Amino acid sequence: MIGLRTEGLSLGYDGSAVIDGLDLDVRAGELLVVAGASGCGKSTLLRALAGLLPSRAGTIRADGAPVHGPSPDRALMFQDDALLPWRTARRNVELPLAIRGVPRAQRRTRADEWLARVGLTGHEHRLPGQLSGGMRQRVQLARTLAGQPRAVFMDEPFGALDAQTRAAMQRLLIGVLSATPATVVFVTHDVDEALLLGDRVAVLTPGGIQELLDVPYPRDPAARDAVEVAAARTRILAALEAQPCRSRP
Ligand SMILES: Nc1ncnc2c1ncn2[C@@H]1O[C@H](COP(=O)(O)OP(=O)(O)O)[C@@H](O)[C@H]1O
Ligand SMILES: [Mg+2]
Repeated sequence: MIGLRTEGLSLGYDGSAVIDGLDLDVRAGELLVVAGASGCGKSTLLRALAGLLPSRAGTIRADGAPVHGPSPDRALMFQDDALLPWRTARRNVELPLAIRGVPRAQRRTRADEWLARVGLTGHEHRLPGQLSGGMRQRVQLARTLAGQPRAVFMDEPFGALDAQTRAAMQRLLIGVLSATPATVVFVTHDVDEALLLGDRVAVLTPGGIQELLDVPYPRDPAARDAVEVAAARTRILAALEAQPCRSRP
């Protein structure tokens, strides 16, 4: 796992700034949720953390070292289907292992282990087009984690799934991450998802981080203090509404 820090980070496209002067610490090993309305720059921030978007000003550091580009140590998982449609589930999961130079036989074993962890044993030979949306996101989760990244950036990974599949994926993620020593930045605009998954929740608005709160509750909803969770929910909603984002098409 890896700690990440942004200092005075400004990001944008062409002439317009999306994020301006952001200072954010992501602690090694935590799951930090970045919540925010559509158009607030959540995806922009994740792309920059992953090294896929250069900053206009300020710095991003990973364990103290400046981030200047992508690295297999930092993996990005998207909402949209990012699987290669012509590769089987197994061959998709093998990709980050190939990038890391893992020999073919080992790649296959490790890919199948990951597919088992996400409940897809027996589906190794299927193409993405032969899988449901939830199953495709399981493959993507396996692919994201198979390369043993030290930091994982998840961009609304369950946003396109129906409520029941989404809840199942959240449970799966909690289980899988407990065995994966990675730092996670998880983007969502869903307050309940933020409160379920996050160790901390940062609310991103055009003015920067509007609210940053600890979520020191058990991840089992039944074991939570409903009053405390409701109070945290109210704070997040208030921060979201204080400075709503608008997309600038
Ligand atoms: N590739 C791009 N080129 C120009 N503007 C972009 C691009 N991607 C995003 N934007 C703009 O940047 C802002 C933030 O977008 P984004 O990071 O996708 O927000 P979010 O993920 O929070 O919905 C929006 O105003 C959006 O229109
Ligand atoms: Mg986005």
